Amino acid sequence: MTDHRIPTARLGGQGPEIGAQGLGCMGMSFAYGPTDAKESQATLERALELGVTMYDTADAYGAGENEKFLSPFFKAHRDEVVIATKFALAVPPDDPTRRIIRNDAPYIRQSVEASLTRLDVDVIDLYYMHRRDVNVPIEDTVGVMAELVREGKVKQLGLSEVTAAELRAAQEVHPIAAVQSEWSLFSRDIEAQVVPAARELGVTLVAYSPLGRGFLTGSFANADQDLTADDFRRQQPRFTGDNAAANGALLDPIRAIAEAHGATLGQIALAWVQQQSQVHGLSVVPIPGTRKPTRVEENAAATNIELTPEELALLEPIAGKVAGDRYTDMRFTSAGRE
Ligand SMILES: NC(=O)c1ccc[n+]([C@@H]2O[C@H](COP(=O)([O-])OP(=O)(O)OC[C@H]3O[C@@H](n4cnc5c(N)ncnc54)[C@H](OP(=O)(O)O)[C@@H]3O)[C@@H](O)[C@H]2O)c1
Repeated sequence: MTDHRIPTARLGGQGPEIGAQGLGCMGMSFAYGPTDAKESQATLERALELGVTMYDTADAYGAGENEKFLSPFFKAHRDEVVIATKFALAVPPDDPTRRIIRNDAPYIRQSVEASLTRLDVDVIDLYYMHRRDVNVPIEDTVGVMAELVREGKVKQLGLSEVTAAELRAAQEVHPIAAVQSEWSLFSRDIEAQVVPAARELGVTLVAYSPLGRGFLTGSFANADQDLTADDFRRQQPRFTGDNAAANGALLDPIRAIAEAHGATLGQIALAWVQQQSQVHGLSVVPIPGTRKPTRVEENAAATNIELTPEELALLEPIAGKVAGDRYTDMRFTSAGRE
């Protein structure tokens, strides 16, 4: 496998230069079935060698476990990595299996301290609001986040799954470095409003689930049959039953383009997201998630692939044909509130 070092991108208008592809670390502790700690650690180290500098986690990934797992790696490479974590998915006191969204000041303050302790670092490089609580004005939430910047606990601010209007209101309070939203060949709803707003405001678009949670690589075809009982993807409407079968057929053009490039399906899916940077004229940083060193090599090498206008045109209709939403409850996404 190639040792291709990835290019760089700027995080927000004034932010640091980072690897143009980040690493999603969620699956190392949470959501996607059994994990192997040693293999995940090797993946982190390999990613860094290849020029990946932004590592994405959240306090909610395994109820703090993911941040704790990543801490030794971050501490060993503190000056080389950009640590991105998130708050907002709270555990209600009466039911530890549920999550509620909280954007209020006491919760943000308690969350940042807990993340700093678990990560065992002095400062978080990029701190995101993970989900929006519509009962709290976004200006108030970002106001508290801005205080964390002034206090030196956080360097830059991000928002996940916000609408264009929410992003604009937030930016009035404090510069927002990044919006993190789902963006892939299967999930393109943010292109209507969020992407133009991010371009206009100089905000980096961090694309989560750029491999369609693995479906676009062909590594699973039906979540019910191919994934373990606790895998989160079994709750996502597009990956089960008739939807999964119909969506599998949508991979054919991706497969044909992959063959032409001597690439994998996943590499074409990632190259497409990366190329949206030129298509829409803004900084785009996909954060594919993997726990395997060979896959991080494969994913990093995708930054070397350039799709032709004809290939982009072949891929264009796919998202419009996907059967099933990306979440069971779309109210918690930007598209659900626009
Ligand atoms: N802000 C939010 O609300 C939000 C929501 C979801 C995710 N995220 C973040 O975004 C990151 C990435 O998203 P994601 O993990 O949901 O989805 P993704 O990156 O689209 O896909 C991850 C899945 O693809 C598999 N995979 C990765 N590279 C592969 C390759 N080259 N060949 C075959 N399979 C491959 C992974 O398996 P292995 O791990 O076994 O390799 C995993 O099952 C997460 O880790 C998380 O940090 C944020």
